[in-house]
Amino acid sequence: KEYVIGVDLGGTKILTAIADLEGNIIERVRKDTEANKGKDIVIQRLKDTVYEVAKKADLDLSQVKGIGLGCPGPLDIESGIIKHTPNLDLDNVNIVEELSDLNIPIFLENDANAAALGEKWFGAGKSAKNLIYITVSTGIGGGIILNNEIYHGANSGAGEIGHITLIPDSDVKCGCGNYGCWEALASGTALSRMGREAVKSDQDTLIDDLVDNLSDINGATIAEAVTKGDKVAQEIINRLADYLGIGIASLINIFNPDTIVIGGGVSQSWNLLEDKVICTIKARAMESLVEDVEVVTAELGNDVGVLGAIAAALAELNLL
Ligand code: BGC
Ligand code: NA
Ligand code: ZN
Repeated sequence: KEYVIGVDLGGTKILTAIADLEGNIIERVRKDTEANKGKDIVIQRLKDTVYEVAKKADLDLSQVKGIGLGCPGPLDIESGIIKHTPNLDLDNVNIVEELSDLNIPIFLENDANAAALGEKWFGAGKSAKNLIYITVSTGIGGGIILNNEIYHGANSGAGEIGHITLIPDSDVKCGCGNYGCWEALASGTALSRMGREAVKSDQDTLIDDLVDNLSDINGATIAEAVTKGDKVAQEIINRLADYLGIGIASLINIFNPDTIVIGGGVSQSWNLLEDKVICTIKARAMESLVEDVEVVTAELGNDVGVLGAIAAALAELNLL
């Protein structure tokens, strides 16, 4: 029997899964990325997850037809080079070459593009034809599916939606080096930042009561504060929802999608964001384009990245 492996290489974790050719996951292995320890460690860990997942499934790597590798971008998927990773220190690494001793074809794909494929083939987008996947986590990433296929652009960089400028004179710096990017203002990182700022400026909030250190404030902290009735946290959530809605409205105007799937850590607080996001979308996007678009959350949960990478491999092997 034949199999594929999917790898979700992220800023905090590497999640690797082995699946049959229908995309049914058999085993998973997860390791911390610890990108700060350097490129060689990250690559070794990634390889270890591949060896370990095959072993766990009691399979030989010779049965693996391909490895889909989802990685934050922009990437050069032809040459296998990670060009620039705002939240993972692997700039200019030829990741496909680094993994060549595995002797399995590696299919590199942007993490959000992979997730879009995952949701399209295995998740919330099964009936979609024109789908935009938006991951809102440490960063904001996008996968644009037009007529059932990922749109890659001229040199595989399409879908870098997190780095469109939302506020030109913002002094909030983004991981990409720019200021005022959508990602800097509306990601999980933005929630942490706004939470810290609120505490530091002595606003009347219980956000700091929920953590030991200010650096521990994250999206979940803000969400917890909201459910405890914290007004400042609610304002932060409202601002984030507004920014998200503005960005999504623009995507709707540009691509006229039938489906928008929201994933990533922040989507776990979608119940707190949804009404306001939808309200902003309706206020800002062209009315006739909003009518028929479905905005839903990802169905694949923590597996969206690996299943996406698996879908990317299956697509490249013409098995989807
Ligand atoms: C990167 C994207 C990626 C997203 C989510 C962004 O900072 O530029 O390529 O999809 O983060 O990881
Ligand atoms: Na993308
Ligand atoms: Zn940016």
